[in-house]
Amino acid sequence: MSEIKNVQVRARPTDALGVYVHVPFCARTCDYCAFYQVSPTAPMIRQYLDGVAREASLIDWIKPVDTVFWGGGTPGLLAPADLKKLGEMVRARFGGTPVEWSVELAPASVTEARLAVLRELGVTRISMGAQSFQPELLSALGRPHTREQILRAYERIRAAGFANVNIDLMFALPGQDEAAWLADVREAVALAPEHLSTYCLTFEEDTALWVKLSEGKVKLDPEREAQLYEKTWEQLNAAGYAQYEISNFARSGHQCLHNLNTWRMQEWIGLGPSAASQYAGWRGTNIDDLAAWDEKLGRGERATEDRTALTPDLLLEDALVFGLRMNEGVDLAALRANHPRAPWAAVDQLVERLATEGLATLRDSRLALTLRGRLIADAIGTEVMSAMEEKLSV
Ligand SMILES: C[S@@+](CC[C@H](N)C(=O)[O-])C[C@H]1O[C@@H](n2cnc3c(N)ncnc32)[C@H](O)[C@@H]1O
Ligand code: SF4
Repeated sequence: MSEIKNVQVRARPTDALGVYVHVPFCARTCDYCAFYQVSPTAPMIRQYLDGVAREASLIDWIKPVDTVFWGGGTPGLLAPADLKKLGEMVRARFGGTPVEWSVELAPASVTEARLAVLRELGVTRISMGAQSFQPELLSALGRPHTREQILRAYERIRAAGFANVNIDLMFALPGQDEAAWLADVREAVALAPEHLSTYCLTFEEDTALWVKLSEGKVKLDPEREAQLYEKTWEQLNAAGYAQYEISNFARSGHQCLHNLNTWRMQEWIGLGPSAASQYAGWRGTNIDDLAAWDEKLGRGERATEDRTALTPDLLLEDALVFGLRMNEGVDLAALRANHPRAPWAAVDQLVERLATEGLATLRDSRLALTLRGRLIADAIGTEVMSAMEEKLSV
């Protein structure tokens, strides 16, 4: 790991603070997933819980935590007693009551006992990875649950008293036509969650689906993806879910605050192997290996790799790239005030072109992508980065 010699910017003390806890355990690996996770043994779980405690003790908790997100992996794979232990350990660092505390659960791991522990800890929001309700698509994803398990899990989550629930769905799957996808959207909407995340399948390197893609057994179809994006947005909007980011939709007042804070380039502390942090003037990612992460912590060192100083230019670039993925867009005047010395001429040039081409609107100083722009948000993000880099290298 290269240590930073010169931290150039201290984050503003008014920034919101999030905590992300990565629980790196799954019963098996889904065919599309590249997140760091392993199949756990009892000693690994002990190692993980002890490691998180050690990692938390090495952090300078200088302000109260606003939002918490436990992701994975599958946090719900931990036994109720371990969830309690993990929860009490991190809660001791919050310095108050967070406004939102989300936990990701896979349907097969949703039990009354686990939900009761999470409620008791103060968890406010459950995010359930359904992906699809259709057996043949779940099987094409190598996803170890059934439609019935999703429905039962959802009922249990509601019965336990959770009033803020998200469901993850995936589209552009091998063998999924438009009708099959829209049927999944309808089925999720019929459950009436407060929030829906709809992710277009990405073929991540070294996953089982990526191997199939490289063998020509499945094919990419960007035109079909764009059609499915548009149909999804239409259908969810009609059902009362407002889009607030490319893949995220919510009933009024139920946007995920933790993710919003991240996309708005606030601060977050990552705990657990592979968790990312952006805190106190730097960003970095923890080693994505449970044993190596733990070993480093055992020597009294943070297990963060690739530490980078948060320079104004880096923050501006990410504020633009992530901000433009949100429907609210970005406030250019506020960004200009926070980053007066950034390469504004390059950004202004790009903004003008996006507006002329009908890919973005500029109202007062707020820049937001149009529907056409949102469909090519990744390409626009790449343009933002190269505009910034061209000027930076001068
Ligand atoms: C980090 S995963 C963890 C959620 C939890 N383990 C589960 O699967 O239920 C969060 C979500 O990311 C989405 N996801 C993961 N890999 C993806 C991929 N390659 N393409 C699109 N979406 C993906 C899935 O919808 C998944 O529910
Ligand atoms: S999608 Fe979720 S359950 Fe599947 S391997 Fe990834 S983290 Fe684990």
